[in-house]
Amino acid sequence: MKKFFALIIAALLLVTTSPQTFAQDEAELTASIEEFYSSLPEAKGNYKSSQRPILIEGAMNIETDIFVKALKNPVAYRELNYLFVAGTYKNYPVVVVRTEIGLANAAASTALAIEKFNPVAVINQGTAGGHDSALKVGDIVIGGQSIGLSAVKIDYSNEGAGIDVTQQEMRGTYSYDEATKIFQPFTEYHADTTLFNIAFAVANKHENFNVISGTIGTSDTWLNCVDYINFLHEKYGSSCEEMETNAAAQICHTAGIPFIGIRVISNSALTGENFDVSSAKVAQNFVLLVVEDYIHKILKK
Ligand code: 5AD
Repeated sequence: MKKFFALIIAALLLVTTSPQTFAQDEAELTASIEEFYSSLPEAKGNYKSSQRPILIEGAMNIETDIFVKALKNPVAYRELNYLFVAGTYKNYPVVVVRTEIGLANAAASTALAIEKFNPVAVINQGTAGGHDSALKVGDIVIGGQSIGLSAVKIDYSNEGAGIDVTQQEMRGTYSYDEATKIFQPFTEYHADTTLFNIAFAVANKHENFNVISGTIGTSDTWLNCVDYINFLHEKYGSSCEEMETNAAAQICHTAGIPFIGIRVISNSALTGENFDVSSAKVAQNFVLLVVEDYIHKILKK
């Protein structure tokens, strides 16, 4: 009987503490960041800058708050209800966009930002779920490449044969191919080599970050099925999953703009770790160092 009550209390504690803490943290942050956004001056007219800005992308407030607060002279632009904040960082123009969640939003806001700000490079960053049991919450994945986890063709099977989605083949997503001058399917998008090398140089210099190079897997699905996660990891080498990188990479490929995806593990079905809001800060702090190095080593050289 005692055991039974202990179990009930433990279950209640789980239900009332962890999800609520997450919701409260997020609600508080959202309230304060929304207040901050509404205090920003709204831009008048078109964006003008003698230097092409760096575009930093994050889907949610928890993934963009540090960046927008780091900008000097921030100005807000709103296009189709997406929020862009333009300013400078280390005396170089930087635009931060809150892409909102998912592939379509990431693609739309990236395309709008390219048209409006003509960025010199795009960094998509934020949280992700682990696809590699060696990765723990707080670890960073520098995306050497990204893939579309739903850009697959499932093999034919007869009615009544049962469902086996492991019988699949990667088909890729369509983007403009400079060589053939038409849209072609790409099974992966590679990070820009300069951005990739700089990200690694930062990782080597700052040992407080635990960084690997890997493959970022994107889809609108949040996978919690450990067997399917292991299958994707083995078949495609995915290091983590999230919902924006490959879509933003696809648009940047079409536009011919240097791109990199950088993700922090915020949760993992493989290690049993739940979503940790504070992990989003780790990615932002790391990306700020990458941006600083990119400005000093490449853009201001
Ligand atoms: N699966 C899918 N998306 C995830 N995200 C963080 N962890 C995961 C996960 N395990 C990110 C997505 C999206 C939001 C829901 O959080 O990129 O923006």
